[in-house]
Amino acid sequence: MNPIIIVVGARPNFMKMAPLYGYLKSKNLPLILVHTGQHYDKNMSTVFFDELGMPKPDIYLGVGSGSHAKQTAQIMVDFEEICEENKPSMVVVAGDVNSTIACALVSSKMNIPVAHVEAGLRSFDMGMPEEINRILTDRISNLLFTPSLDANQNLMNEGVNENSIKLVGNIMIDSLLNNMEISKKSRIHNELNIVKGEYATITLHRPSNVDFKGVFSGIIEAFEIIGKEIPIIFPAHPRTSNMITKFGFEDRVNQIPNFQMIKPQGYLDFLALIKHSKAVLTDSGGLQEETTALGIPCITIRENTERPITVTEGTNTIVGSKTKNIVKEWDNISKNKGKKGNVPELWDGKTAERIGRCIIEYLEKH
Ligand code: UD1
Repeated sequence: MNPIIIVVGARPNFMKMAPLYGYLKSKNLPLILVHTGQHYDKNMSTVFFDELGMPKPDIYLGVGSGSHAKQTAQIMVDFEEICEENKPSMVVVAGDVNSTIACALVSSKMNIPVAHVEAGLRSFDMGMPEEINRILTDRISNLLFTPSLDANQNLMNEGVNENSIKLVGNIMIDSLLNNMEISKKSRIHNELNIVKGEYATITLHRPSNVDFKGVFSGIIEAFEIIGKEIPIIFPAHPRTSNMITKFGFEDRVNQIPNFQMIKPQGYLDFLALIKHSKAVLTDSGGLQEETTALGIPCITIRENTERPITVTEGTNTIVGSKTKNIVKEWDNISKNKGKKGNVPELWDGKTAERIGRCIIEYLEKH
């Protein structure tokens, strides 16, 4: 059998592909792990391979940062060569980053079947680069693995053949459940000198929030207000720390009482941090889901979400980027503890197995 290529590129891909890689490997399928190098810093990349038990990538493209066109195009040129050399029986991509659409597009044009993990999510906001990546990747994928029923509905509304849509659940929750126990060994609370349950964790990296001085300033103002009430831990994405420097926000951030801006954390320390947060404030996609799985209130600093189930069933509240709306929801959590929520169906740690079985069945039939 020709190999299956598993593609990873950016931080949110690693926790989605690690469980699937492990399952397919346990079935002795020939696999090639390709890392595009979209994320390349040790704490944005290597640490996740170590902690999630993924082997070193078989092929590392090292594309690095660049404009959307440059990054996507470079991945495509390099990935085409890999497909020519290795003649994969299938290419598996995950999520919505530039590496996802780049590799899906190359494969599809070479008539190689594409499987998309985390298909069907829609924010209905074409201003988000990820929304473009999602829609295009789904359109050219042969197997669409969805995390929840709303995603099935989105795909059917777009006319996708129902037979190619497979409701499998949320694979990120496989990684979360697999690693919860071991993350208890984390010493992050001691290192940061914080008390479990008595701090808020914040992450921020969306261009729409951090690339515009006025918007970013308003968000920092919310942190200044919230920081008077509770210690804040802020693992800052490289894009975000660069923008803090560019906009000259360092002094403001440094003056917030009990505010710790730290480097991006590895998977296990980060899990330990969110598990014991009083609340999480974020513009991340995955974190909306992880907080729902853990029952931690989440304030999403965005105008919309492609993961509505975290709002309808989980602990998530969408508040946008305005200072007063962020602070209002924080007050609500601080006084009333915030949403309790339920864990959605099929977020049960068995998604990798369901995806793996579908892939095997597909390859046997085609
Ligand atoms: C990418 C994804 C986004 C995802 C995010 C998770 C796209 C379009 N965006 O956004 O959907 O939520 O990853 O982190 O694919 N940088 C470093 N070191 C790194 C990686 C990035 O310093 O290892 C810096 C560089 O200055 C780079 C910037 O961060 O220019 C942005 O990186 P990029 O991969 O372009 O986008 P993200 O904002 O990380």
